[in-house]
Amino acid sequence: MNVLLIGSGGREHALAWKLSASPLLTKLYAAPGNPGIAKEAEIVTLDIGDHAAVAAWCKDKRIDLVIVGPEAPLVAGLADDLRVAGIRVFGPSKVAARLEGSKGFTKDLCARFSIPTAAYGRFTDAVEAAAYVRRQGAPIVVKADGLAAGKGVTVAMTVEEAQEAVAACFDGSFGAAGAEVVVEEFLTGEEASFFCLCDGTTALPFGTAQDHKRVGEGDTGPNTGGMGAYSPAPVMTPEMIDRTMREIIEPTMRGMAELGSPFSGVLFAGLMIGADGPKLIEYNVRFGDPECQVLMMRLKDDLLVLLSAAADGQLAHMSARWRDEAALTVVMAANGYPGTPERGGVISGLDQVPEGVEIFHAGTALKDGDIVASGGRVLNVTAVGKTVTEAQARAYSGVDAIDWPQGFCRRDIGFRAVEREKNA
Ligand code: AMP
Ligand code: GLY
Repeated sequence: MNVLLIGSGGREHALAWKLSASPLLTKLYAAPGNPGIAKEAEIVTLDIGDHAAVAAWCKDKRIDLVIVGPEAPLVAGLADDLRVAGIRVFGPSKVAARLEGSKGFTKDLCARFSIPTAAYGRFTDAVEAAAYVRRQGAPIVVKADGLAAGKGVTVAMTVEEAQEAVAACFDGSFGAAGAEVVVEEFLTGEEASFFCLCDGTTALPFGTAQDHKRVGEGDTGPNTGGMGAYSPAPVMTPEMIDRTMREIIEPTMRGMAELGSPFSGVLFAGLMIGADGPKLIEYNVRFGDPECQVLMMRLKDDLLVLLSAAADGQLAHMSARWRDEAALTVVMAANGYPGTPERGGVISGLDQVPEGVEIFHAGTALKDGDIVASGGRVLNVTAVGKTVTEAQARAYSGVDAIDWPQGFCRRDIGFRAVEREKNA
């Protein structure tokens, strides 16, 4: 098969790495890719926003499957336009991508199909949103409705903070994404990420993970896209996975079909596991980044077979098998992240990392023969081990082999799981 992979992050490098292991793969192309992905795929220059041009290029290269990594092209309808052109795609349609593209849409779906989630209100008016915040009191959570690059959520500990967040949304801080606001109940419990491959009808459980969103050790400081992750998530026991499938994922699949927008692609549920079971915090319609990196290290089966089956509506008789080991990834970021990252720093030592440690490139570029930092999150140093503790030690031995003075990482990725293992 000829495959085109769309995206340029660590998530796509991990997908490219796993796809490359498939005996079914003839040729892998990637757009826009990065220097890490370039080791697995031929990089092509394509304007991803020009759907007709992407379709024409796919026809010309006889592409058998397009795999879309990030959410933005999905929300923009790339999968629809490729399908209309007769090209197979792994990824949801534009209307199905509303599960990520509109928080209000997802909340209404939950209400209609009795899916457990935080109580909420939807507002297009600042005065009404503010009144709702006052009635409910704090802590309370304020969310811009649309895609806001992970920055549209405020977990407010006081009513004043919530009012400021509401005002910021309606003042245009998040552009069109903030024209509507969701205000919701503050949930308590342990967070976990749960993934399914979906083909419109069937959802196949596809692994669990936990990530660290805050930039600072001990989960402190500003939010980021994710500073590290590990898989599996200990809180996602087989019983909890069963409940999540029954109470959250399956009603979502039925609901989306009933609404005329069946979901295919990756359904990534952000969950809060509380005393009364799993609740949905949010959906994403693509793999997590960096959660994908740890999933790919643990997946035993052929990824290309599974994604093709999802694209063809053939998941009903498929299964996914995982290594028993844990996997852990440490994000190395450029100094300044999540503010303005320092770009251009030369990274060396990438070929010195111990055997078995995989380095996925997230924000790198090639300059005069050197790998340099070109984004906020730059490298994902990833390893497996019998326990999270062992995977963590291996990943940090990889980090220590890398010489990049302008970069940093958290030294405590996986600390809750490590603590759990110590006490077990
Ligand atoms: P989201 O972008 O929706 O994943 O939200 C970002 C983070 O905010 C989540 O990972 C949670 O840590 C937190 N969060 C979102 N919604 C809630 C909620 N209703 N209760 C508590 N924390 C939340
Ligand atoms: N790491 C969180 C995300 O990909 O949304």
